[in-house]
Amino acid sequence: MSRIKIFDTTLRDGEQSPGCSMNLAEKLQVASQLERLGVDIIEAGFAISSPGDFESVKSIAELVKNCSVASLSRALEKDIDCAWDAVKHAADPRIHTFIATSPVHMEYKLKMTPEQVIERTSAMVKHAAKYTSNIEFSCEDAMRSDPDFLVRVCDAAIKSGAKVLNIPDTVGYTTPGEMRAMIEYLVRNVPDSDKVEFSVHCHNDLGMAVANALGGVLGGALQVECTVNGLGERAGNTSLEEVVMAMHTRPDLYGELPRIDTKQIYRTSKLVYNIIGQSAPNNKPIVGANAFAHESGIHQHGVLANKSTYEIMTPESVGIQTNQMVLGKHSGKHAFSERLKELGYELTDDQIIDAFGKFKELCDKKKTVTDGDIEALVSNTEVVDGKYKLVSFDVKTMGKVGVCSSICLKQEDEFFEEKSLGDGAIDALYAAIDKIVMPPEHVLDKFNISAVSEGKDTLGEVTLKLNCEGKTYSGRGLSTDIIEAGIMAYLNAINKLMQ
Ligand code: KIV
Ligand code: ZN
Repeated sequence: MSRIKIFDTTLRDGEQSPGCSMNLAEKLQVASQLERLGVDIIEAGFAISSPGDFESVKSIAELVKNCSVASLSRALEKDIDCAWDAVKHAADPRIHTFIATSPVHMEYKLKMTPEQVIERTSAMVKHAAKYTSNIEFSCEDAMRSDPDFLVRVCDAAIKSGAKVLNIPDTVGYTTPGEMRAMIEYLVRNVPDSDKVEFSVHCHNDLGMAVANALGGVLGGALQVECTVNGLGERAGNTSLEEVVMAMHTRPDLYGELPRIDTKQIYRTSKLVYNIIGQSAPNNKPIVGANAFAHESGIHQHGVLANKSTYEIMTPESVGIQTNQMVLGKHSGKHAFSERLKELGYELTDDQIIDAFGKFKELCDKKKTVTDGDIEALVSNTEVVDGKYKLVSFDVKTMGKVGVCSSICLKQEDEFFEEKSLGDGAIDALYAAIDKIVMPPEHVLDKFNISAVSEGKDTLGEVTLKLNCEGKTYSGRGLSTDIIEAGIMAYLNAINKLMQ
């Protein structure tokens, strides 16, 4: 069995789903973390879809050194040219081109005959081959396509220069057994199939994306496409953390392990959730708060006697620290940076100094600082250069009248003060901020408050989403004062909106 390659499409298929959009700085942060995690290929975007997408694919291609960087393109010359333009400076650039192969897509979407699809496949893969030999070709909606037609399409793609053949379950329709059988069939029947890699790309509409991807691996697929936290269109894609940990937990079934550093999984998941302003559902496998919690007496008893009674993998193996070490105001920079290293954070000297400053500020407000607090502090590094920064704020509750707020913001060297009334503190403060910033019309779509660790003095985290003209802007704020966290989250999102 060969090592399975991990193709991450968080920044393409994940990012194109509603509420998951990221700005350039955020995409670069995610790309660097994916590189640290050890994925084999980063699909950085769909270069032709917008000038912003082109810029981000290009910037990621220039930044990333230790894995391949791909751009998606339809099977059209202009798309392929644009994809190449965006990725050509990468250490290992890849063009990923696709065309639909199912009867329903060919007839109603493409309005092309099967023969025309085969011709287009040959012509466009040959066109991509003028630029690079690292070409992936996808048969969109493959799992609702005729297997013998797929054999012909794959044959045409291989003869024209494709090195990876991706078999997507675009609509999340298939089952693990069908996916396995399909890959086995293609491996057996496509001429020269041993010279290429088959790949699987599964959507989660029936909650089976991970199982289907693993079915494909059992059938002989050598590449799995997935996204961090399973983000993606509709119900999402194959979740990277789940599929990787399944392979790690059952090497007897899946063979040689992917080259992922599993200790970076939790941190990667957190980073992506933070950026899109969401958090993991408690019961999310691998990264949810309850993923390693044993509540029932019988389970607790078993785990205390021997962990393997109820634990098939350890929290440490995905980078979750359970031996919570407590730091306090007497802890020095050395102890702090050592703890960061143990938690899997490789920060530059400047980042450590900055994080240590925040840690000290927190120590003045909170007696003990836990790993959870430290992780929240360092993953809260603002990825948007904040145009407006909070200087101070005040709120007064005035009984039935509501709440009166005043706020002072700073933009470069200029200070701005405003007051406003509202139903509650957040409402009044956001209204005061709007008076200063004057953002375009927008709606507050989501607003979540959570505690980062235990205790009444815990850090509170606010994540929110603003919707402006159909685009989503997420924000995150962290403070021992939940109102302050709410202001920071709003400013974070408003700064993105005003960019
Ligand atoms: O789901 C799908 O079919 C895709 C392809 C473009 C690879 O995302
Ligand atoms: Zn997809």
